[in-house]
Amino acid sequence: MANQLDVAGDLLAYVRQVSLRDDDVLRDLREITMELPAGEKLLVMAEEGQLLELLVGLCGARRVVDVGTFTGYSALCMARALPPDGTVVTCDISARWSTIAVEHWKRAEVADRIDFRIGAGKQILGDLLAEFGADSVDLVFIDADKTGYRDYYEGALRLVRPGGLVVIDNTLFFGRVIDPAAQDADTVAIRALNDLLRDDDRVDLALLPMGDGITLARKKLT
Ligand SMILES: C[S@@+](CC[C@H](N)C(=O)[O-])C[C@H]1O[C@@H](n2cnc3c(N)ncnc32)[C@H](O)[C@@H]1O
Repeated sequence: MANQLDVAGDLLAYVRQVSLRDDDVLRDLREITMELPAGEKLLVMAEEGQLLELLVGLCGARRVVDVGTFTGYSALCMARALPPDGTVVTCDISARWSTIAVEHWKRAEVADRIDFRIGAGKQILGDLLAEFGADSVDLVFIDADKTGYRDYYEGALRLVRPGGLVVIDNTLFFGRVIDPAAQDADTVAIRALNDLLRDDDRVDLALLPMGDGITLARKKLT
C-alpha cells in the first residue's frame, strides 16, 4: 500500500495544471483576497473551492450553509453548483470584506442565490434551525473560528438532512494536530473535534489530506 503523497511544489502545480477549472472571476477574487492581511492563510485553496462545487452538485443540493464568509470564495464556488432556485446562506461575524464578496458574486451572476448574514456562526445556525427546521439543508461548510467548530458541527448535523454532508476545513491545522508542543486553543479544539468525529456513529467519515485537511461527514440515513 502506497503512502499519501506529499503534494507540494511542482506536483501541486501539475495537479492544478491538469484539474483546475478556473475563470476570471475566481482568479480575480483569489488575487484580491491574497493581498489582504492574512488573506492567503484564510482563503480556501482553488482546488478546495472546486471540490466544494463538485460536492454541492453530487448532493443535488438546493440549500447550502457556509460558516465563515470572508471575501466570499467558498460561497461563490458552492453557489455556482446550485440550481437557479438554490440558496447558499453564508455568515460571518464581520462584514468587513463583504463588499469584495458581493462584487464578485454579482460578476459571477450568482448573487441572487447567496444570502449573506452577519452574526456569530452558532447564533446563525440556531436561527436557521428555527427558520428551516431540522434535516432541511443539503450541505454545510464550516470554515470559521476553530474553537467554535464543535458547536458548528453539532448545529450543522441538526440542520443537514440524512445523506447530507458536513464539510469541515482545516482539520489538519497546518500540521499542528500532531505536534505535542502545540497546545493553543485552536489546535486543541481541532484535535478534540477530530477525536469526536472518529467515534461519531451518526456520520460516515473521510478526512482528505488535501489543502489544510478537509473532513467530510455524511449524516447517516438511519
Ligand atoms: C478562514 S476565513 C473563511 C474563508 C472563506 N470560507 C473563503 O472561502 O475564503 C474565516 C472567517 O470566519 C469568520 N469568523 C470568525 N469568527 C466567527 C464566528 N464566531 N462566527 C462566524 N464567523 C466567524 C472570520 O471573520 C473570517 O472571515
